[in-house]
Amino acid sequence: MTTGGHRVFSGMRPSGRLHVGNYVGALQNWVAMQDEFECIYCAVDVHALTDMQGEDTREIRPNVREMVLDWLAAGIDPDRSLVFAQSQVPEVMVLHTLLSMVTPLGWLMRVPTFKDKVRQMQETEESVSYGLVGYPVLMTADIILYKADTVPVGEDQLPHLELAREIARRFNHLYGPTFPEPQARLTEVPLVVGLDGAHKMSKSLDNHIELAASPEETTARIATAFTDPERLRRSDPGRPWVCNVYSLHKLFNPGRLDEVYQGCTSAQLGCVEDKRLLADGVNENLAAFRERRSEFESRPGYVEDALREGARRAQAIARETLAEVQERLGLASVAL
Ligand code: AMP
Ligand code: TRP
Repeated sequence: MTTGGHRVFSGMRPSGRLHVGNYVGALQNWVAMQDEFECIYCAVDVHALTDMQGEDTREIRPNVREMVLDWLAAGIDPDRSLVFAQSQVPEVMVLHTLLSMVTPLGWLMRVPTFKDKVRQMQETEESVSYGLVGYPVLMTADIILYKADTVPVGEDQLPHLELAREIARRFNHLYGPTFPEPQARLTEVPLVVGLDGAHKMSKSLDNHIELAASPEETTARIATAFTDPERLRRSDPGRPWVCNVYSLHKLFNPGRLDEVYQGCTSAQLGCVEDKRLLADGVNENLAAFRERRSEFESRPGYVEDALREGARRAQAIARETLAEVQERLGLASVAL
């Protein structure tokens, strides 16, 4: 592993196959960071339990596999970076319990994502699980168990990182300097808008382009995209600056931007053809990714071995930190 003095940690919930938004908004950044830093990437399957119950949880295991396949195909290198599933290093759950003792309940109840989640789940603050309230404490444990100081995330995670710093600071104040205060590192790519042109690209809104889709599926899917709503007839000039297809061209067809812009604003290029050009750009860009993915998918045990080795190396770091924490807290040890 290379280190530039910083240790990077990030996590993603195992939601299955990733989409183009995850790729440009997070994954490409994760891949690039490997050249500069020691990186730890975690499939946070325990976090998935905060809003899932019963039979649904059977999806977690296959989802971890699909997501990690996407990571590896994108260029996350399991020899250089640590890649593992959260539940495979259970020390994080011990640290979560210990950190919960220094975290005021008010801090957790005030996190805006908590209030949003309660609303979204159509629950009340009294009826949601204790585990959901503790979501940011578990996230803090994820990061500081490895003494990571740099956390690449999207903007929506900033309140969680703020809390992680407060918890680390409080622990350090009470028990002596133990943890670095982790800093968020925002990705440069702004939000990728979905094919509906109205919301952030997201699997749950079904407005996404799956990375692992076939070229044909990708073309068919992009053909359903909304474009400039005021361009009603083929002969109307379009407004690329309000069109989400054009914003995807910026990411996947940088070499043809002028051509598309001119064609659209002069009404020489129709939306149907424009979307076909975009599909070609996406398919060209993702061809190498898709080839690697299907190769890795057919190599028996490839993902499993990467996760096993990642967990083994992660656990060695985790045990050291946990021993130090237990010592600082004055907890029992074999030598009383
Ligand atoms: P999620 O599974 O939605 O939590 O996303 C995992 C990662 O991908 C997070 O770091 C998000 O910031 C990023 N991400 C998800 N959707 C988008 C999007 N539409 N545009 C940019 N980044 C995204
Ligand atoms: N909460 C993050 C999300 O929803 C996922 C996550 C869990 C995470 N633990 C983390 C991200 C630690 C960064 C660091 O995207």
